[in-house]
Amino acid sequence: MLYLQRMKKLSRRFCIAPMMDWSDRHCRYFWRLLSNNALLYTEMITTGALLHGDTEYHLAFHPHEHPIAVQLGGNKPADLAKAAKLCEKNGYDEVNLNVGCPSDRVKSGAFGAYLMNQPQLVADSIKAMQDATSLPVTIKCRIGVDDNDSYQALTEFVDINQCAGCTVFIVHARKAWLSGLSPKQNREIPPLDYPTVFRLKQDFPQLEIILNGGLKSLESCQDALQTLDGVMMGREAYQNPYLLNRVDQQLFDGLKPAFSSPVELAHRYAHYIEDQLIRGVQLNYMTRHLLGLFNGQPGARAYRRYLSENATRSGAGVEVFLTAVDLLHSGENSASKLESLNRL
Ligand SMILES: Cc1cc2nc3c(=O)[nH]c(=O)nc-3n(C[C@H](O)[C@H](O)[C@H](O)COP(=O)(O)O)c2cc1C
Repeated sequence: MLYLQRMKKLSRRFCIAPMMDWSDRHCRYFWRLLSNNALLYTEMITTGALLHGDTEYHLAFHPHEHPIAVQLGGNKPADLAKAAKLCEKNGYDEVNLNVGCPSDRVKSGAFGAYLMNQPQLVADSIKAMQDATSLPVTIKCRIGVDDNDSYQALTEFVDINQCAGCTVFIVHARKAWLSGLSPKQNREIPPLDYPTVFRLKQDFPQLEIILNGGLKSLESCQDALQTLDGVMMGREAYQNPYLLNRVDQQLFDGLKPAFSSPVELAHRYAHYIEDQLIRGVQLNYMTRHLLGLFNGQPGARAYRRYLSENATRSGAGVEVFLTAVDLLHSGENSASKLESLNRL
């Protein structure tokens, strides 16, 4: 099965972004129920955590999560090579290097977006990782960082890394400010600049260029796919996950949506919850990723509130989740039903 998966060319037509604290294995399993084709990315794992921490914990994933890419953070080619080898041994389908994250931790370690200033070091890292594994090694970057934001600097960065053997660039279409902006602001304040990414594809037609940043609908993904090889969606996939129900139908050759309703999806995920509870995972670790599942539907607020108040309790079981889902059926009466549940 794994072998067949590897033989199949990895499609990056639709990717879901690496997101710390969000795209963990419970969330990825949930996303996988919604799309067979989306390429899922792990949260960033630093080489330090992987090489000196609990490797098994960091790299564990469910076999149903394939195709799955692991994102690494680091700046030492030898360490990245060792880490990439471990990722291959653990069955990942791609290794991605983070050259776009602007958090303080990343700044003090001089990796992530900071590496946009160090194209040769990135190229050495890519080469070291490629020599160490047979997995595709890809880059996720920004269009610039601080004052190093000219198109020429971007093309030099891409060129030196393509010479090192990288053929896939996921480009978050805004620059990063390393001083003065928080990571959250760095995802909102620097303006989106899709034309720069389109231009990159025009100038490097042989490369796979994936657009990231601000994609909020499958229609906008379809538009970008007219020009580019793939798209990567982050926050919208997390906050409004049921939109993924039509990914296979709209962006691949799927005949129909994955589920007929979010309630049906919730009941399917409940089987996974039961299995993980037996393994000692707390209910909230899974249900926290499903708070946006019913957005816009009557009863959604009561569902969220019930989960937030009850899923963290020690020993909380799958029935807590199913009771929350039942509040959806109560529609406009969900608030009074929630009140009577709270009185119990
Ligand atoms: C909570 C959160 C955590 C993130 N963590 C990472 C990360 O670990 N690695 C990374 O490359 N980008 C990370 N990002 C950035 C996203 O991958 C993506 O580039 C960004 O959110 C823009 O895409 P979007 O507009 O579709 O959300 C994170 C974003 C969010 C919201």
